[in-house]
Amino acid sequence: MRIDVISLFPEFVAQCAAFGVVGRAGERGLLSLHGWNPRDYAEGSYRRVDDRPFGGGPGMVMLIDPLRASLAAARAADPAPVKVIYLSPQGAPLTQAKVRELASRERLILLCGRYEGIDERLVQAEVDEELSIGDYVLSGGELAAAVVIDAVARLRDGVLNDAESAVQDSFEDGLLDCPHYTRPVEHELGTVPPVLMSGNHADIARWRRQQALGRTAQRRPELLDEAALSKADRRLLDA
Ligand code: ADE
Repeated sequence: MRIDVISLFPEFVAQCAAFGVVGRAGERGLLSLHGWNPRDYAEGSYRRVDDRPFGGGPGMVMLIDPLRASLAAARAADPAPVKVIYLSPQGAPLTQAKVRELASRERLILLCGRYEGIDERLVQAEVDEELSIGDYVLSGGELAAAVVIDAVARLRDGVLNDAESAVQDSFEDGLLDCPHYTRPVEHELGTVPPVLMSGNHADIARWRRQQALGRTAQRRPELLDEAALSKADRRLLDA
């Protein structure tokens, strides 16, 4: 998979993706990242990339032309069909279902804004999808792009080891994850739930499902409306 990042700080995004599972995906040739800096496509000795907003108000707005030229360069670098995503707090919420859809593609371009954002005409003309990583405001799209890259890369074939398999992740079934424990069994902070040492796989699976359901009901009840719950799940929830 190829991901191009358009950003005033492309090295920052590359650094975020240089460690752990995503770094390994790069080393294995399963993910290639390419950064494009709009400043390299800006005119004049000041290489200006922003200007004041029409209508007044605080902050600056990113200019159309340097972004458009860097997008054109990124598009031209590979003939595969590409989806252009703009990271912004005004975007649709990023969900695991959306991550799965993005991970099925061979190419993405992630567009990162700074300041108050980018000229809306560029968004209308060039962007396929606007995504937000949450209801808070970052000082730029770079951290959001790093989040997208991480979440997408770990779903690509060959990136996770069997032991790290994404199938049991939180949200893959629409629920929060169950709690996890490791050695020692006895600790001054508490004892591991005995069922996990019972060796009875059906009991363990039932306990984990019940924990996942209970946590979801307590912490994120709205997720239960969307999750496909079985009759057995309903019984576990009521137990
Ligand atoms: N840029 C600034 N804030 C953001 C957010 N919450 N999500 C995505 N991009 C952003």
